[in-house]
Amino acid sequence: MFAYKNQQLQVENLPLLELAQQYGTPLFVYSYAQLHRAFHAYQTPAQAAGALIAYSVKANGNRALLQLLAQWGAGFDIVSGGELQRVLLAGGAANKVIFSGVGKSDGEMRAALQVGIKCFNVESIDELDQLNAIAQELNMRAPISLRINPNIDAKTHPYISTGLAENKFGIAHTAALSAYQYAQQLPHLDIVGIDCHIGSQILELQPLLDATDRVLDLCAELQSLGIHLAHIDIGGGVGIPYRAQENSPAVTDFVTQVTQRIKARQAQAQVIFEPGRSIVGASAVLLSQTRVRKLGQQKNFLIIDAAMNDLMRPSLYQAYHHISAVQQRDDEPEHIYEVVGPICETGDTLGNERALAVKLGDVLALHDVGAYGMSMSSNYNTRPRAAEILVKGDQVTVIRERETIQTLLKNERALPLHNW
Ligand code: LLP
Repeated sequence: MFAYKNQQLQVENLPLLELAQQYGTPLFVYSYAQLHRAFHAYQTPAQAAGALIAYSVKANGNRALLQLLAQWGAGFDIVSGGELQRVLLAGGAANKVIFSGVGKSDGEMRAALQVGIKCFNVESIDELDQLNAIAQELNMRAPISLRINPNIDAKTHPYISTGLAENKFGIAHTAALSAYQYAQQLPHLDIVGIDCHIGSQILELQPLLDATDRVLDLCAELQSLGIHLAHIDIGGGVGIPYRAQENSPAVTDFVTQVTQRIKARQAQAQVIFEPGRSIVGASAVLLSQTRVRKLGQQKNFLIIDAAMNDLMRPSLYQAYHHISAVQQRDDEPEHIYEVVGPICETGDTLGNERALAVKLGDVLALHDVGAYGMSMSSNYNTRPRAAEILVKGDQVTVIRERETIQTLLKNERALPLHNW
């Protein structure tokens, strides 16, 4: 985990400054202990209730992290054929894989059917037909659940709210019964569950419990039509506190309250959770070296070597990530800085109005970047993606090499100019 010791920010037993010097910056540094703790905050109460934790791979698909999660018994929530391959390569069990997403390709469906995943979360009538046809072609039956849009406000950023009638996700809960009846007639589908997901970075339990109730109401109606469900999937996990004063629901309360609510009305159904952020979010910092200090009349800028291509969340969602100096200084005055990257866009900001005492060349840590950090990174401005390392005690393992310009250019082809 991340804590100061003798004015040096450490991960587990190692000073982050030394890691930055050895592995270069920008650098994602993961803590094994934090990942272990966050996963087991879900897994312990889930196991007690017979529930499945299907980690949402989109939050962070690094194979080494998936290997650990698979070893600890996680299932996986995937949204692409690529994520399926990652999970299988990491030793994840196919029969614990849930395939979500509004627009799956034929090839992705085929691959998932062939390896025998646990369930397809289907989001439209068209997708029911598509999956039925692919299963028929393979002479198989596809296990399905319908993703219901419960029309509940998750009270989160509009870009990551998914459970409102106006969002593109799921089948309206008012149309759910007829969609199930339609699915029932398709010969190559097996109805096994129901699911919903109302959004991400949810800091209150109530909307999640309300969504659970709405799903349970539907289960009761389905039962009266003779449709019995083996599982109820409640979607992603709770939010995490990015700011010191932010409170997030305790994971144990979330898991316990949801499973109790479900057991009270659908005792036989297995409960599934698909958390991403709350498992990996706090497990990493992004280390970045300061390149330029610009003290101005209106604003001071601290230009660092990480940018919006490494961590998109502040630019895309105005998300807050705590930023601290890995080396606390008494020999430098504190200034209020805009912490920005070197990319040619004003939106390339990583933190506004941060009080920092830094000398040129000092290393900063951007906190809580384990979820939707590396997985959303890009090569904008032809910037090679950062390296990733995992620390356990005082053991360091590189889990992704830093990209090079060569790897970046590999798939590009020069024009045969003499023909043009
Ligand atoms: N299940 C489904 C169907 C999802 O769409 C998501 C996230 C999850 C599970 C995992 O949710 P979590 O436990 O991580 O909240 N890039 C954004 C977050 C996008 C979330 C998309 N869906 C961000 O950086 O905040």
